[in-house]
Amino acid sequence: MNKTIQIAIDGPAGAGKSTIAKIVAEQLGFTYIDTGAMYRAITYKALQQGVALSDEAALAKLLEASTITLKPSPNGQLVFLDGDNVSDVIRTNDVTASVSQVAAHGAIREQMVAAQQQLAAAGGVVMDGRDIATHVLPNAELKVFMSATVEERARRRFVDNEKRGIPATIESLIEEIALRDKLDSEREVSPLVQADDAIYLDTTSLTIDEAAAEILRLANAEMN
Ligand code: DC
Repeated sequence: MNKTIQIAIDGPAGAGKSTIAKIVAEQLGFTYIDTGAMYRAITYKALQQGVALSDEAALAKLLEASTITLKPSPNGQLVFLDGDNVSDVIRTNDVTASVSQVAAHGAIREQMVAAQQQLAAAGGVVMDGRDIATHVLPNAELKVFMSATVEERARRRFVDNEKRGIPATIESLIEEIALRDKLDSEREVSPLVQADDAIYLDTTSLTIDEAAAEILRLANAEMN
């Protein structure tokens, strides 16, 4: 008999989390929740409104007054901010360069974690982020920490950016990813760390399908 479980996928930028989590969710008929998109949405709004990224209280107030909604669609998850579709604009270089600063604030994380726990409450979810196994879903039945070398992650981002029409060079992406790794891993509140009970998956030399198959194997073992 199959049961419904929570799958937590964490790891650094560009490890392949969202692409792979989406496939796993689709195969299992689960809901995919991209928590990074939520941090990106509030960062986008802060940049639009000129709120200082260092002003934790102002950002927390801004988030309280905002509605961020995630909606599945045939082309992937759509992100709405106060009713507007911001799925593409939250992926621009400006937002990417600023989001770690916003995500470092405890008052922002507190609200985000509560919202994410609500989204996952019904089970049957694949959630990806940085603190899912350690803070958002500490009781998730399957926890995976996914990583790859910085060079490989930069190469993947480069291909992805090309498709989206976002200009970048491999060198600048290596630098940007290494900096984001550093900020995300060294922040005081909920840093990016592998949970003790998470399974480590190095995707450097795996294809997307191979990585997804491995997680599906682990999920099926857990459910049956
Ligand atoms: O996965 P991503 O690149 O879209 O995430 C954007 C940023 O959000 C990332 O630099 C770290 C932050 N983040 C976080 O702190 N906690 C999460 N659960 C998800 C993302």
